[in-house]
Amino acid sequence: MNAFGNFFVCLLLFYLRSANAPVRFATSSIRTILFLFFFPYDCNNQEFLLEPLTKILTGMAVEACYCEDDFLQQLDAAVNGDDANPKSITSLDLSGNRMDAQVCTDVSWKYISLLSSLTSMDLKANNIGPDGWSALYQALSSTCSGTLEELDVSENGIFDEGLFQVAKLLVEAKRLRSLALVTNSLTPRGIPTLCDGLRHAHSLKSLLIDYNNLGDVGAAMIVEVVVGLPNLTRLGLSDNSIGDAGAVAIAKGLLAARKNNKGGKGKWTASRIEWLNLSCNAIGDAGFVALGDALCDVNGNAAIRNVDLSCNQKCGESGRMHLATSSAKWAALTSVELCSMNLSTGSVLALAAAVRNPKSSLRYVEYFNNPDVAQEAEAELAKAMDECEKPDRDLARRWDAENKTAALFVSAGIFGVGIVAFLAARLISSKK
Ligand SMILES: *[C@@H]1O[C@H](CO)[C@@H](O)[C@H](O)[C@H]1NC(C)=O
Ligand SMILES: *[C@@H]1O[C@H](CO)[C@@H](O)[C@H](O)[C@H]1NC(C)=O
Ligand SMILES: *[C@@H]1O[C@H](CO)[C@@H](O)[C@H](O)[C@H]1NC(C)=O
Repeated sequence: MNAFGNFFVCLLLFYLRSANAPVRFATSSIRTILFLFFFPYDCNNQEFLLEPLTKILTGMAVEACYCEDDFLQQLDAAVNGDDANPKSITSLDLSGNRMDAQVCTDVSWKYISLLSSLTSMDLKANNIGPDGWSALYQALSSTCSGTLEELDVSENGIFDEGLFQVAKLLVEAKRLRSLALVTNSLTPRGIPTLCDGLRHAHSLKSLLIDYNNLGDVGAAMIVEVVVGLPNLTRLGLSDNSIGDAGAVAIAKGLLAARKNNKGGKGKWTASRIEWLNLSCNAIGDAGFVALGDALCDVNGNAAIRNVDLSCNQKCGESGRMHLATSSAKWAALTSVELCSMNLSTGSVLALAAAVRNPKSSLRYVEYFNNPDVAQEAEAELAKAMDECEKPDRDLARRWDAENKTAALFVSAGIFGVGIVAFLAARLISSKK
């Protein structure tokens, strides 16, 4: 198809996308068929090359402003310049500009309050503090809480004080998909406030709270809430002084199956978390035992794909070995990180056996910096991963869904053409 045809298809899809669910289903089917017949397929990565479509979609409205040096002048030019159109700016990157509370307050009122189409805002690595964040929140809340999809306020010292506005934004921003609060000195004291907002974050897909001081109590509170979020698939809790109690809460809440109502009569449900980062915490033997066992729960952890457990140096040999042997029965997890864990040769051999074991879901282990592991064991694990032929479950699932829809429509199409041909033939013969 040429670019012109593409353009009209895009317009049509755009229109249809804003419609309701059955129409969305039809649209995705049309898209599948279009991709099947008109778009090239990348055999190496087993993906359709979506570029032709996405290029046109993004070319239509997206205008980004990446501001680094002299960022205030650049921002001013982008928002107030001669041919600037602040309403068309959808993405703003102000990361690493050493903005303090005062500058952030000015920027919020002068510029951000004009950006009514903003979907993505990166403020990482400034120093806006609770006051700067409060001003920014008010600007975001009054202009673009309806469009905002991604927000990164990592490394800004917003402290527990700032979590009140975070919670309000989580309630208001109905499209927020991704929120990063990495390195903000958050403690369990502020987490109940954050959780009040999180409970409403039904659109949230990714939540990163790494490098704070959540501890066992904070981690447990967060897990209790995120387990009920329908779209949350990524959770970053690394570097948070989480110990055994926190790990046990995570194992119970995130990885084990639960009945989905209080009477215990409902269906078994699980969180949607696919990716969980618990690296560089203080999880010990009891925590590793609980996590290893929970990962064997067939009903509970159907979504989980990757867990990073690296650098939990409080864990001893019994915890590591338990985790490694439990991997023979893991039900969904395909990849695990265990770097800097002082792994023993025995545990690496157990992991290699799990990778070879068709009954285990494990396919990949990352394990840098474990100097005690014998070379033969490393070689065996590398070989096992190399030869691993377990299907990629995500890809298989996606393929399955796409192909089924496409097959349905193609056969419906062929059937329709057949009927038309039949009727036409009858019409012609009756005219004769
Ligand atoms: C979140 O997930 C639910 C159910 O899976 C879905 O119906 C809903 O549209 C999603 N919400 C957003 C904002 O993506
Ligand atoms: C987990 O977090 C640490 C830092 O906190 C990071 O270095 C690591 O790459 C993360 N793991 C994954 C799998 O991304
Ligand atoms: C690594 O584990 C072994 C036991 O498997 C222990 O003897 C050794 O002290 C540990 N090393 C470090 C650096 O913790």
